[in-house]
Amino acid sequence: MGWAKDAAKMTRLTPLYGPAPGVAKLNANENPYGPSKKALAAIQEASLSGSYYADQSAMALRAMIAERNGVDPEYVAISSGSSGVLAATAINAAQSGNILGPDLFWDTTSLAVEQQNVAKIVRLPKDAGLEIDLDAMYAAIDDSISMVQVVNPNNPTGLLTDPVALKAFCIKASKKATVLVDEAYNEVTDAPESNTMVSLVRDGHDVIVARTFSKIYGLAGMRIGYIIAAPETIENIGKYGIGSYGLNQAGLAAAIASYEDAEFMDASRAKIREGREMVYSALKENGLTGLPSQTNFIFADLGSINAQTFREAMEKENVLIRGIYRDYTNWSRVSMGRLEHVQMYVDALPKVLSQLS
Ligand SMILES: Cc1ncc(COP(=O)(O)O)c(C=O)c1O
Repeated sequence: MGWAKDAAKMTRLTPLYGPAPGVAKLNANENPYGPSKKALAAIQEASLSGSYYADQSAMALRAMIAERNGVDPEYVAISSGSSGVLAATAINAAQSGNILGPDLFWDTTSLAVEQQNVAKIVRLPKDAGLEIDLDAMYAAIDDSISMVQVVNPNNPTGLLTDPVALKAFCIKASKKATVLVDEAYNEVTDAPESNTMVSLVRDGHDVIVARTFSKIYGLAGMRIGYIIAAPETIENIGKYGIGSYGLNQAGLAAAIASYEDAEFMDASRAKIREGREMVYSALKENGLTGLPSQTNFIFADLGSINAQTFREAMEKENVLIRGIYRDYTNWSRVSMGRLEHVQMYVDALPKVLSQLS
């Protein structure tokens, strides 16, 4: 499992926290402008009470999330990163059937369940434009499917599925199976309020919405994420998790301090947009294109170049990006980090491309 792979990544030169100086870490869609100043102060304060389990702060964050989304706290489950509740959601779904998703999506937690041979992931055929074909998805929901998983905007494509079409799909599809909409990047999009499916949870549809503090809030290492769903669903999923016992005081404090910090989020969004423009123009100057992204990463079409070879050549320039996804051999994902790190990608691009072509 994951731990063995993680150990292989450690070297004597790996710093304990974050990337080494001079390394552009653009491979995990983090927001290195975080934690915000408010979050840092809260982390320090909470750490002083780090000897106590984190019950009250967990309840406080749960109440904040519930209030903002117009639901009761019973509709919210928090975990260590959204991966925690997403894994529990997948395990719960696997008890009664398979998980349906597009060909490419952030499938880590559902894959973990597939590895246990309890249920499998059923994938739609490849879409030429790398979009999610909602009609094909609806048509693919048969009795063997217990959950449909949509990531919006999607990872690794960065593409936003039109929220009006997605809403109509969710209403129809949720009559046949639970629909999980993973909105990890919702707050990065141009119109977070119109893009979210949370109103469907309020309206009583069998829909689960997942969110995280790992992306726009810049708290990936502080590990807080959550789902919003009907109380019965939260109850069922809760059987496969450990509730507030799995949460940490510092992460909760950071999340509470960041949740309403519009100033930090606006500043982060502006940096992400600036980074995206830098990458798009660098790709263009080098004869390449990237998909239109509503996230803090871009999926670039490398043409005839292999994405894994490209990743390795970029690493030699101290730029860390993602390698191949499934059989999308010529597609490469790069995250928007600090602008000076995005600049390192931009500077390395022509050099690496000329080495490889
Ligand atoms: C779409 C999506 N969902 C969930 C996650 C999990 O993030 P976390 O566990 O940090 O909330 C990620 C991480 O990259 C992601 O891209």
